[in-house]
Amino acid sequence: VPDIRMTTAIHDERHFARIVSLAADAIICVDKEHRITLFNYGAERTFGYSAHEALGEPIEILIPDRFRAGHGAHVRRFAASAPAARLMGDRGAIHARRKDGSEFPAEATISRTTVNGDPVMTVILRDITPQVMAREQLEKMVAERTRELQQEIRHREDAQEQLVRIQRLEAFGQLTGGVAHDFNNLLTVIGGNLELLKDRMTDERQAKPLNRALDAVSMGARLTQRLLSFARRNRLEPQVLDLNAEVVGIIDMLRRSLGESIDISSVLAPDLWNVRADPSQVENAILNLAINARDAMPGGGRLVIETSNAKVDGAFLKLSSGELLPPGDYVRLSISDTGTGMPPEVLARAFEPFFTTKEPGKGTGLGLASIFGFARQSGGHVTIYSEVGSGTTVNLYLPRSGGASEGAEAARDAAAGAARPAKLRILVVEDNADVRETTIDRLEGLGHAVTACDGASAAMDILGRRSDIDLVFSDVVMAGGLSGLDLAAWMATKKPGIPVLLTSGFTEELLAVSAGAGPKPRLLRKPYATVELAEAIARTLDREER
Ligand SMILES: Nc1ncnc2c1ncn2[C@@H]1O[C@H](COP(=O)(O)OP(=O)(O)OP(=O)(O)O)[C@@H](O)[C@H]1O
Ligand SMILES: [Mg+2]
Repeated sequence: VPDIRMTTAIHDERHFARIVSLAADAIICVDKEHRITLFNYGAERTFGYSAHEALGEPIEILIPDRFRAGHGAHVRRFAASAPAARLMGDRGAIHARRKDGSEFPAEATISRTTVNGDPVMTVILRDITPQVMAREQLEKMVAERTRELQQEIRHREDAQEQLVRIQRLEAFGQLTGGVAHDFNNLLTVIGGNLELLKDRMTDERQAKPLNRALDAVSMGARLTQRLLSFARRNRLEPQVLDLNAEVVGIIDMLRRSLGESIDISSVLAPDLWNVRADPSQVENAILNLAINARDAMPGGGRLVIETSNAKVDGAFLKLSSGELLPPGDYVRLSISDTGTGMPPEVLARAFEPFFTTKEPGKGTGLGLASIFGFARQSGGHVTIYSEVGSGTTVNLYLPRSGGASEGAEAARDAAAGAARPAKLRILVVEDNADVRETTIDRLEGLGHAVTACDGASAAMDILGRRSDIDLVFSDVVMAGGLSGLDLAAWMATKKPGIPVLLTSGFTEELLAVSAGAGPKPRLLRKPYATVELAEAIARTLDREER
C-alpha cells in the first residue's frame, strides 16, 4: 500500500470523507462484485444519478452498452496486474453514460486497494466534453485552412506554369525575331535582284526559273512575316475597328473556301465596342483560326465565329489562362469548332512556333504563334478552351478602343446595382472543385445563398428533395455522364418553374446543336466577370417572369 502523506489537520476521518464527498470530480468505489459502494457529489453531478439510486447497483449502469462486455474483462485484468493505479482507456479517454442514456468522453484513473481484506476499486473521473469539443473545433478549423491553402497553392502553381510557358514563348520570340529580321533583309536582296534580272532578260527560256525563284521568295517572305508577327516585331498599323464588320467581311470568303462539309455561322454582339488593332492582322487571325478549325474537322462539322464584349476583373483572371491580361474592357473574338479537340500536351504547346501535329508540308506551326504575338503586341491575349472529342474554342481578346472609359465604369456599376435585386437560393452544379469554390464565393459576394454539387445527377437529387431553389447555375461539360444540357432538359419537364443558367467555355451556337427539346437555356461564356454573372442571372430571371 503506497504511503499516504497527510498533515494531522486532514488526518481526521470525517474531514477526509467530506473532501471525497464534495470533490467536483466523480469518485466512485466498487466492491469485488463490481457493485457501487461509494458515489460522491461529483459523481451525482456528472452522471445524473443520486447517490441513493447508484449505491448497490452494478458499475455497468455508468458504461455505454457497447463497452460493457469489454469493461468487465478490463477491470479483472487490472485487479490481477501489478500497478495499484493507472489511467483508464486508450490515450487516457473513455466513454461514460449518464442516467438519461447520453454518452460523454471522460478522463479517468482507476486504483486498487483492500479494505478489511476485500478488494476495492476506486475510479476518479472527469467529464472532458468541453475539451474534446474544443479540440474537434480546432481540428476542423485546421482542416479547413489546410484545404484553403492547398487550393491557393494550386492556383499559384497554375499561374506559375502559365507564366513559365509565356516566358518560354517570349524567349522563342526574341530568337526567331532576330533571325526573321535578317532573313527578311536577305529575301529583299534576293527578290530585288531577281526582279532586276527579269527586266534585263533576253531569252524567254529564262522566264520560268526566274518566276519560280520569285515565287519562292514571296513564300519565304510570308513565312518571315509570320515569324515577325510572333516575335512582335511586325509593324502594326492599328486602327479603330468594328470586329463585327471584319467578320461580316470575311465570312463569305470562308464559306466558299472551307467547303460544304463545314457549316459556318456567326453570333455577333449588337452593342459591340470598337477595338484598336491592325485590320490585316485581325483578318489573318480569323483566317488562320478557321483553317485550323477546318483541319480539325476532316469529316465536316460546325464553325462558329462569335464576338462579345468582355470585362476582365480579378475573378475572371483566376478562372482563365489570361493571367497576363490587365483588368479592363476587351472585345472577344471567338472561333469555335466541333473538331477533334486538343489533348493537354498539344494544348500546352500550341502557341509555340513550329509546333505542329500536321504532316510535313501541311503545317508550319506558325499560325497560333503569330496570332499570339499579334494579340500580345496589341495589348490583348489569346486563350484556348478545348475538349478532346468535343471541339475547340480560341478566344482572341483585343483591348477596347479608348480604353476602359469612365462611361464603362459607370455602366458597370449601374449594371451591378441593377442586377442585385434580391437574395436568391442558387444551386451551383460544377465538377471542377476550384471553379465551384470560386463560383460560390462570387455568388455569395453578390448576396445569394448557395448550395453546390459536382454533377447533374446530384443536382437532380437535390432538386427532388428541396423546393426552395430559385435558380440553377450549371456547367455544361462535366465529367461523368450527364451534361448541363441534360440537366436543363430534365428540369424543363420535371421542374419547369425553376430557371436555369448554363455556363461553358464553348459558345452557345456550338452547344445548342446537342440541346434537346424545350426552351433554349441561357448560356454564360466562361470565363466571365462577376458583373457579367450578375447580369446573366438577372436576365435569366427576367425571361422566366415574362
Ligand atoms: N481548332 C483546332 N482543333 C484541334 N487542334 C488544333 C486546333 N488549332 C490548332 N490545333 C493544334 O495546334 C497545332 C498548332 O497550330 P498552329 O496553327 O500554330 O499550326 P499549324 O496549324 O499546325 O500550322 P500552320 O498554322 O502554320 O499552317 C496544330 O498542329 C494542331 O495540333
Ligand atoms: Mg494553323
